[in-house]
Amino acid sequence: MTILVTGGLGYIGSHTVVELLNNHFDVVIVDDLSNSEKFILDNIEEVTGKSPVYYPFDLKRRELLTQLLDAHKIDGCINFAAFKAVGESQVIPLDYYENNLFSLINILQEFKTRNISNFIFSSSCTVYGQADEMPIDENTPLKEAESSYGKTKQMGESILKDFATAYHKKVSLLRYFNPIGAHPSAKLGELPIGVPNNLIPYVTQTAAGIREKLSIWGDDYPTPDGTAIRDYIYVVDLAKAHVAALKKLINDPSETVIDIFNLGTGKGSSVLEVVHAFENANQVSVPYQICERRAGDITIAYANADKAEKELGWKADTSLEEALRTTWEWQQYLESRN
Ligand code: NAD
Ligand code: WQD
Repeated sequence: MTILVTGGLGYIGSHTVVELLNNHFDVVIVDDLSNSEKFILDNIEEVTGKSPVYYPFDLKRRELLTQLLDAHKIDGCINFAAFKAVGESQVIPLDYYENNLFSLINILQEFKTRNISNFIFSSSCTVYGQADEMPIDENTPLKEAESSYGKTKQMGESILKDFATAYHKKVSLLRYFNPIGAHPSAKLGELPIGVPNNLIPYVTQTAAGIREKLSIWGDDYPTPDGTAIRDYIYVVDLAKAHVAALKKLINDPSETVIDIFNLGTGKGSSVLEVVHAFENANQVSVPYQICERRAGDITIAYANADKAEKELGWKADTSLEEALRTTWEWQQYLESRN
């Protein structure tokens, strides 16, 4: 079967392409390189020994998508392509709505007319906001997202539910918690662009001496050590969940399917725990200072991922330390390229 992977040269997309190829799917990638670089394609080829088809265009250009779908028989799609920076989405919200939703609707319009099903959507734990109870399962009520980015995920989910219902399609909405780490080959990982907002890239760059000190945003949260708690999931485990979710859709005999899965480890870690785990795993020190809370941050979020285990036969089993080791190896690789 041939799977269209949009954003397939991005962080999570590139790892998922590797897992798809390892599972004998053919892959067609569309990525406009707005947040990636061409060498990632070379590295996918090096890691897998296979060459996925690659198109470097912007999915907002429907006519190019039409040409691609005329040229390839596609059996499903994993749609990673989106802008993803929460803070930036508050500054340029229209660009976020335009990129994340127009791209999605273009693909769905084509799938509608071409009788293609099996669509996987990258959603996010951000759709839950600060949930009232932990852990967060798939029935936890959604709260209005705080950021325009988060709203594009909520809207994307609604669009896909309507798409599946009206046109009898099979869709899977995957709500990722906090993806971290890099490929064990150290050839794929998250590309650093500008000053990182997310915790792990900031920790890594601080350990590497690129940043002077990590700012820990708040130590007065109602948690055991006062720092905020998240569910950090290793990116290769996350990539494997996509293959499992895709196989489930393909094998499901129903005409209409709307699957929703939380993808996390089920375990929460505080910011200080992450910093110390990074130091222990890599035998490096991470200088930090405690600062005021970051606006918009929630106190705690971790998943109940039992549904994915039961229905997909999938579980995130890589330890935090192991994931943080791969992050550090990826950092060494990036430095060796400069
Ligand atoms: P990423 O930025 O590394 O990957 C996205 C890729 O899509 C990039 O390579 C970019 O060049 C490409 N792209 C963006 N817009 C495009 C367009 N219009 N046409 C073609 N290509 C386009 O991001 P990621 O971390 O791999 O995230 C993948 C998906 O998962 C996104 O939808 C993101 O919102 C979602 N997600 C990410 C996280 C996270 O923390 N990384 C958490 C939850 C959900
Ligand atoms: C984690 C913790 C920070 C940086 C974001 C998006 C979410 C999802 C995942 C896409 C928080 C603290 C961070 C720093 C710190 N992405 N921190 N110093 O905010 O949980 O989630 O990424 O869908 O939608 O909102 O992740 O990595 O930014 O922060 O103390 O320099 O680390 O306050 O408690 P977050 P994060």
